[in-house]
Amino acid sequence: MVVISVCSLKGGVGKTSVVLGLADAAMRKGLATLVVDLDPQGDATYALGAKATGSASGDVLESPKRKVLEQTIVASSWEGAGELHVLPGAPSTAALDRPDAEGESLHTLRKALGKLDYDLVLIDAPPSLSGLTRSALVASDRAIVVAEPGAFAVNAANRLFAAIDDLRRREAGGLQPLGIVVNRSRPSVREHAEQVKVLERTFGPLVLSPVLADRAVVQRAQGARQPLSAIAGSAPMADAYDALLSRIGRTAKALRRRTS
Ligand SMILES: Nc1ncnc2c1ncn2[C@@H]1O[C@H](COP(=O)(O)OP(=O)(O)OP(=O)(O)O)[C@@H](O)[C@H]1O
Ligand SMILES: [Mg+2]
Repeated sequence: MVVISVCSLKGGVGKTSVVLGLADAAMRKGLATLVVDLDPQGDATYALGAKATGSASGDVLESPKRKVLEQTIVASSWEGAGELHVLPGAPSTAALDRPDAEGESLHTLRKALGKLDYDLVLIDAPPSLSGLTRSALVASDRAIVVAEPGAFAVNAANRLFAAIDDLRRREAGGLQPLGIVVNRSRPSVREHAEQVKVLERTFGPLVLSPVLADRAVVQRAQGARQPLSAIAGSAPMADAYDALLSRIGRTAKALRRRTS
C-alpha cells in the first residue's frame, strides 16, 4: 500500500482535482484505491459521488479503530475496473485542524491507515499547514505539492517542502516529497510558460512531468460527479494523469508492478 498526500498552502490550486484525476487513473488500472477526504469542505467526497453514512474522516482521526473505519468508509459511485472507496470529508472535521497540533495527535490517521489494505491511498488535504495537513503528511509515504504557474508559487512550494522536511525529521520517518504538480497552465499565456520555467529552474526534477493544462473538461467532470475519463474530450488530460500515476509507481516499489 502506498499513501500519497496531495497538498498546498494555497487554496484553489487544484489539490482535489489532482486527487480525482489520479483516482480515475488508478481505477482504470484496476487498483484498489481509497481517497481520504481531510478537507472539511468535502469537495472530493461530493465529486466521487460518495454517500456518507453520517460519520466522517474526523471521527477516524479521533478514534482510529477498525470498527470506526468500517462504519465510515463508503464506495464511490464511479464505475471502473478497480475498487474506489472514500473516507468522507465533512464540516465536523474542521474542529481537528488545530494550528498547535503536535506529537501523538498527528499519528492517529497513520495508525488508522495501517489497519487497511489498499494498493493506493490518496489524501486530499485542506489548504493550510495546520493539524489536518500535518496528520496527512505523517501518514504518507510521499507528498505531492500542487502549484499554479504564478509569481508566488516558488515561495509557497518552498515553505511546504521545509515543513515536509521538518516533519520527516520529527514525526514521519518514511515521508518524502514526490514533487510538484503544476496545474492549470495555459501555454498560450506567456507569463505561465515563464513561471513554469522558473519552477523548473528552482526545483529541477522535483517539477513533475507533464504540467497539467487548464481544461474545461476538469470542471465538467466534477460538476457531473463523474471520472474525468468519462467526459468527451478528456483524453489528453486522462493521459496526463496516467503518466503521473506511473511516476508515483516508479518511486513506490509496491505500486510499480501494477502501474507500469
Ligand atoms: N486543470 C484544470 N483545468 C480547469 N479547471 C481546473 C483545473 N484544475 C482545477 N480546476 C478548477 O479549479 C477550481 C479549484 O480546483 P480544486 O477544487 O481542485 O482546488 P483545491 O486546491 O482543492 O481547492 P481548495 O483549496 O478549496 O481545497 C475547481 O473549480 C476546479 O474544477
Ligand atoms: Mg480541495
